[in-house]
Amino acid sequence: MIEITLDGWKVKAQEGSTLLSHIRARNIDLPTLCQHDELSPFGACRLCAVEVKVNGKWELATACNTPVAKGMEVRTDSERAIAGRKLAASLLYYRYPATRAVRDLAENLGVAVAAEAADAKECVLCGLCTRTCREIVGVAALSFEDRGLGRDVDEPRIAFDANACIGCGSCAYVCPTGHVKMEATGDKRIIWDKAFKMATCQVCGRPFAPEDQLKYISARTGVPMSRLKTCMSCR
Ligand code: SF4
Ligand code: FES
Repeated sequence: MIEITLDGWKVKAQEGSTLLSHIRARNIDLPTLCQHDELSPFGACRLCAVEVKVNGKWELATACNTPVAKGMEVRTDSERAIAGRKLAASLLYYRYPATRAVRDLAENLGVAVAAEAADAKECVLCGLCTRTCREIVGVAALSFEDRGLGRDVDEPRIAFDANACIGCGSCAYVCPTGHVKMEATGDKRIIWDKAFKMATCQVCGRPFAPEDQLKYISARTGVPMSRLKTCMSCR
């Protein structure tokens, strides 16, 4: 265990843990957009900006991907930290002015937000879907394209690998803006423009999961397909 100073409080911290975990443990309200406890940190939105003393100098850092260090001093409530978060929210709002999730975050952080009825549900490049697909589902059907040398870094997009996707819909559930569309029609689920045939529960007859997802679960767990033909409610 090491000790850090957080808004003047001495806090014991596990080496390797992130600043955000200690900030949350003290019930300090810090906005986040690209962070999820079950996923690797990404540091994309910068909404979680705090001030950290490095080599005797206060600097802005993102709490979600900054590991604690012995003797570290952290300020979440300084003028500069608050201004850093507001600036991050302003930049997001400037880029995605018609996306409700962004507008709500920006407004909460004191950005003047113009009235807008529609919700554009744009992709804000938070990376939650790509990381969920890769790190939790274990499929890696989603990735950022237009990244890397010589690429247009201003316009990265999500690349979808239809052959790898099992139609589980995790990306749609985790997306904070509603950009990932998932539709159900009859015994089909359409996601990222790919249609998946849904398996029908052998007890109640309702479609309950994409067949590709059940095959994936069977292959990963060794549970035979014959035992995956009943929905959760009928088990
Ligand atoms: S599609 Fe949604 S979850 Fe994926 S990067 Fe864009 S905003 Fe984030
Ligand atoms: S939540 Fe920390 S950078 Fe997005």
